[in-house]
Amino acid sequence: MRDLSITHAGATHPSPRSVSVDVAPGEVVLVLGPSGSGKSTLALALNGLVPQSVPATVTGSVEVRGRSTAETPVAALSADVAMVFQDPDAQIVTGTLLDEVAFALENLLLPVDEVLSRSEQALRRVGLWDRRGWNPDRLSGGGRQRLAIACAIAMESPVIVLDEPTANLDAQGIDDVYEALADLVATGDRAIILVEHNLDAAMRFATRAIVLDQQGRLAFDGPVGQVLRENADELLTMGVWLPAATLAGRMLRERGILPDDAPLPLTPEELAGMVGDPQVDLPTGR
Ligand SMILES: Nc1ncnc2c1ncn2[C@@H]1O[C@H](COP(=O)(O)OP(=O)(O)O)[C@@H](O)[C@H]1O
Ligand SMILES: [Mg+2]
Repeated sequence: MRDLSITHAGATHPSPRSVSVDVAPGEVVLVLGPSGSGKSTLALALNGLVPQSVPATVTGSVEVRGRSTAETPVAALSADVAMVFQDPDAQIVTGTLLDEVAFALENLLLPVDEVLSRSEQALRRVGLWDRRGWNPDRLSGGGRQRLAIACAIAMESPVIVLDEPTANLDAQGIDDVYEALADLVATGDRAIILVEHNLDAAMRFATRAIVLDQQGRLAFDGPVGQVLRENADELLTMGVWLPAATLAGRMLRERGILPDDAPLPLTPEELAGMVGDPQVDLPTGR
């Protein structure tokens, strides 16, 4: 993204606003920012849905593997950029899991053998191969979201964009989706762009965080741990959620249980390590 500003039809100001970001294969980029800062708009610009399907004024540019997403048709870009939205039902179109995963590959006129082998591999990857004959309706919300991820895997797209993929899910569904994603990240050669409020699960594999502020400007961009640890107070003020362990770490600091200069923990493991550290003076009698 180069100096990217997007103003929706009828909107008074752009969000995102003047954002420049380069993402390389292997990166898992968490996109954070308050509601309305432009995260979803930015996500939709990555495969051309903005401005090609959702009317908006775009200045600056988005290029994926050298192709402009404003000028290349969405159908052509779909080979490079796979999307997973908040509501899996908005993108499931067929009557069985196998048909669903095969659908995009069939539309690319790939040979039958390849369609089947890629579909099988993708469904196995997310643990749904045994249910390949099921109607997607029978899956839980987490299961349907895993199906959407399997569709992205089957496309072998080098870029996968997920916009709040766990927002509608219960705790088990969130775990299921993140297990599938962790597995996908482990292959290491894709770029993953993840918009997510629930940071506890995402923290396990995000490598980088970019933060949009209320005006849609790029406020922070860096390694995820550094961005969250160094800007925790400002992020909270901006309305950005933090991992539960980070919030707990702040409270322990405020109460003098952790020293003021202790780094904030990002995961339950880091928090446990700090609290259990014999260097830390814990109050007695509890
Ligand atoms: N389809 C649309 N038409 C007009 N305005 C929109 C549309 N989608 C989003 N917006 C506006 O664009 C801004 C950014 O929205 P969005 O990208 O959805 O933010 P986020 O995902 O960070 O909550 C908001 O001011 C929102 O009201
Ligand atoms: Mg959004």
